[in-house]
Amino acid sequence: MKTNRRQFLFTTSLIGFGWILNKAGFLFGHQSSLHYSEETISNSVMDSNFGDQFPYSLPKLPYAYDALEPFIDKQTMEIHHTKHHQAYVNNLNKALENQSFKNAPLVELFKKVSTLDKAIRNNGGGHYNHTLFWQMLKSNKENKENLPSQKLIEVLNKHFGSFENFKKEFSEKALKLFGSGWCWLVKDNKNTLKIVTTPNQDNPLMDVVDEKDRGFPLLGIDVWEHAYYLKYQNRRAEYIENFWKIINWEFVENRLS
Ligand SMILES: [Fe+2]
Repeated sequence: MKTNRRQFLFTTSLIGFGWILNKAGFLFGHQSSLHYSEETISNSVMDSNFGDQFPYSLPKLPYAYDALEPFIDKQTMEIHHTKHHQAYVNNLNKALENQSFKNAPLVELFKKVSTLDKAIRNNGGGHYNHTLFWQMLKSNKENKENLPSQKLIEVLNKHFGSFENFKKEFSEKALKLFGSGWCWLVKDNKNTLKIVTTPNQDNPLMDVVDEKDRGFPLLGIDVWEHAYYLKYQNRRAEYIENFWKIINWEFVENRLS
């Protein structure tokens, strides 16, 4: 029964994926690009919640530019959103406009991004990552204690021993990431939670990321200097410490379920 269900899911995944690719004229080289092994399919994770399509557009922030003060200042938020994120959107549209597969879902392109123009990888990642990032944050002007729900804490306890262990490991990895990039909490295809980092605008849905680090992003922190330099200058550790005060845990928990 279990095998039949697995075969059915595998077959429908292939049919669904093939349909999308065909509809979009998304054929790389020859038909064999559609012949994924079951293992490859099962290791691919997709975020079907990401609804934006070509031509991509800058999403509105779910709060005002000053909403995250005093932890992230208004000017940083405004520049980050209207300049940096907007540039990723513009450059992604430019990189896709003459491509036959431009209407394919961005999260599908991530699965084959190693074969595509680097501008699609950089700017597609930039658009996806920032769209998620804004929603992962929330206002906490009164600096109240900001903990996940008991349910989410129990999940984190199971995977990391304790919430404090999780926080420590995540903060350390975000701090030690060399150069620009992101630190993520992901759920892999075996439902294991992991903390991984990706350079530049890569993310754990992309095929350029080591298989052991792939997964569905639940939480992420942008550790590019543009995310914190105006307020924190070189003090990345302080920015990361304050990030914990403005995490939208409800959003993270919704993604987990
Ligand atoms: Fe950023």
